[in-house]
Amino acid sequence: MKLLRLLVLLLALPVAAQQGGMWIPSLLKGMNEKEMKSLGMKMSASDIYDVNNSSLKDAVPHFNGGCTSEVISSQGLLLTNHHCGYGEIQAHSTIDHDYLTDGFWAMTMEEELPNPDMEVTFIVRIEDVTNQVLEGVPALTSEEDKQKKIQENISKLSNSLPKEKYQENKIRTFYEGNQYMLFVTETYKDVRLVGAPPSSIGKFGSDTDNWVWPRHTGDFSLFRIYANKDNLPAEYSEDNVPYTPKHFFPISLGGVKEDDFTLVFGYPGRTQEYLPAVAVQQIVEVLNPAKIGIRDAALKVTDGFMRKDKQIKIQYASKYASIANYWKKWIGESQGLTKSNAVAVKRAFEKDFLAKAKKAGKMEEYGNLFNDFDKYYAEIEPYQLSRDYFIEVAIRNTELLTIGYKLYQLEQVYNTRGEQSFTDRKNNTIASLESTYKDYSKQVDEKVFEQLIALYAEKSPAQFVPEELKNKDYSAFTKEVYTQSKITSYEGVKSLLSGDATTILEQLNNDKGYQVIKAMMQAYIEKVAPKYQEISLKIDALQRTYMKGILELSPKDARIFPDANSTMRITYGQVKGYEPRDAVYYEPVTYLDGVMEKYVPGDYEFDVPQKLIELYNNKDFGVYADKNGKMPVCFIGTNHTTGGNSGSPAIDAKGNLIGLNFDRVWEGTMSDIYYDPSICRNIMVDIRYVLFVIDKYAGDKRLIDEMKLVNVKKK
Ligand code: ARG
Ligand code: ASP
Repeated sequence: MKLLRLLVLLLALPVAAQQGGMWIPSLLKGMNEKEMKSLGMKMSASDIYDVNNSSLKDAVPHFNGGCTSEVISSQGLLLTNHHCGYGEIQAHSTIDHDYLTDGFWAMTMEEELPNPDMEVTFIVRIEDVTNQVLEGVPALTSEEDKQKKIQENISKLSNSLPKEKYQENKIRTFYEGNQYMLFVTETYKDVRLVGAPPSSIGKFGSDTDNWVWPRHTGDFSLFRIYANKDNLPAEYSEDNVPYTPKHFFPISLGGVKEDDFTLVFGYPGRTQEYLPAVAVQQIVEVLNPAKIGIRDAALKVTDGFMRKDKQIKIQYASKYASIANYWKKWIGESQGLTKSNAVAVKRAFEKDFLAKAKKAGKMEEYGNLFNDFDKYYAEIEPYQLSRDYFIEVAIRNTELLTIGYKLYQLEQVYNTRGEQSFTDRKNNTIASLESTYKDYSKQVDEKVFEQLIALYAEKSPAQFVPEELKNKDYSAFTKEVYTQSKITSYEGVKSLLSGDATTILEQLNNDKGYQVIKAMMQAYIEKVAPKYQEISLKIDALQRTYMKGILELSPKDARIFPDANSTMRITYGQVKGYEPRDAVYYEPVTYLDGVMEKYVPGDYEFDVPQKLIELYNNKDFGVYADKNGKMPVCFIGTNHTTGGNSGSPAIDAKGNLIGLNFDRVWEGTMSDIYYDPSICRNIMVDIRYVLFVIDKYAGDKRLIDEMKLVNVKKK
């Protein structure tokens, strides 16, 4: 039975859909259109991307550089995930107005909340500029010179290629340096918070359910883009007006069922699908375990405080969620890579690659690739590991060190650019730290420091650890640092940064906390970074050759997708369940009934708001229930997504919005490195659940009224 299903699947799906893939929207016509149609798509490639006419791409801006969002009304109403708007929702929250816990709904445009540091970026057009970027490069011999020339060409082109005043040219590399594309973009800076469900809906299941199917999270929030009177980008102003988009998504209430075509549009951040086996093995055996260990320690400490203290819970909610997110992902990734034998699969692929190279008479170019990879990955390991420890301990998880790092940069500005630059930078630093300290708790940070500094000193490669941090009583040392350092409060930092430059530098260098980060920084810069960069450059060059080989030696009709690089992509597939393990099959759709099954009254992850329980008990689902009268919540599909695809629109065969991407399934979290089509699935909120919450739960009907609903069933 299982075999039969596999066979049917193999016959039914053309090759590329079996492999996943994130495709460049401007190149769909030749590459993907036929396959998309065979999977059920009823649009043409130019409905999705068109330079001269409005197309779907005009409704999909990059959300604050990290997530994806989509425009869903003629008045610039913007949909993204709750976890993407989380920082903004938190920033507007206090103990008295706790929008994270209770949700937030602007009932009029006047009530929509501005967010000073937010922006969304639209793609105007995409062009291939490979030849221009590589001009004069082949003539150079050293890798350093080549990279320098490429950077020069890129900055020249970015300045000279045609664009409007309010637009930007961005050039990005694809296929590890084998292709370059230009993106002309427009960035809107007045983006206001419109609505967010309570975390008990928007983050239902929290970290326990994160990366897991079956899922029951209403992971959405709403914003609105504002523009100046000419509909152009502008800084926040009361005079700004709602943005009129070139395109916005109609919303389908028709629902989804297994095998329906789906398309996901968005900005996937980074994948490494073409790593050699040796690199994958290093990730599983060395790098992931180290990073997981550090975050394990930091999270345990923070969680302990958050459970006891309401203020700390608000201050650390966003930071905690983002640290926990990749901690859990790395665990799933390592498990998945192990279970799917990714290293062995990659080794087999490499053997085959060499056979093809031999047949093509290309052994001179490719014959040594894998020996070289082996050599350089072995060489880079201690440097990479030390770098990961440094970043995780100092830059990501210990706030005193993260802030100290900014102060260290300040000292560097003085050394390299002199007093005036120093003073400017100092003022910026002081201003930017105000919000950092709003969410800073010395007691939390101190306990985190105590754990992490010990890990750094004892577990990271010893040859790169500064002598003064070795062999200490870390508990006593921590106490000393946190009682003496001024970095533990905003007032303290401001006093450290007062006086003339010489005084400030003296004060900094006498500060206990500053001394720790400075020692770590110097060890990193002197002993780790140079060698790390040198070997990385070699590995990058090998990877570029490997990628070129894969493109060259694969069969003519094989379509190879470029790794994600935070540029706009399309992935498509179908709504589909999967078999996570022997004898278990996961259905592709979840319902509100499942929310009630998971309900734990008062629990911080699985509580359910009273109002939602009432709506459920009364079956008050309006037009949003499916044809059996059940309220759908989430669904999964075979779309190949990654971090950055959060908030991505899930679109039906005709270009209507049916869902909102927000996660992947546990068994498939290794998809950034090895995409296994049998178990990799993306998770989406059903758009009907989103509308149900806005309409029935929040009663913000004005928002429903400005949307364009299609496939509405008669009641
Ligand atoms: N795993 C999803 C992604 O990578 C969702 C993360 C937010 N949710 C959470 N519970 N932390 O972004
Ligand atoms: N949750 C991710 C995001 O925030 C999406 C993913 O990694 O699947 O982009």
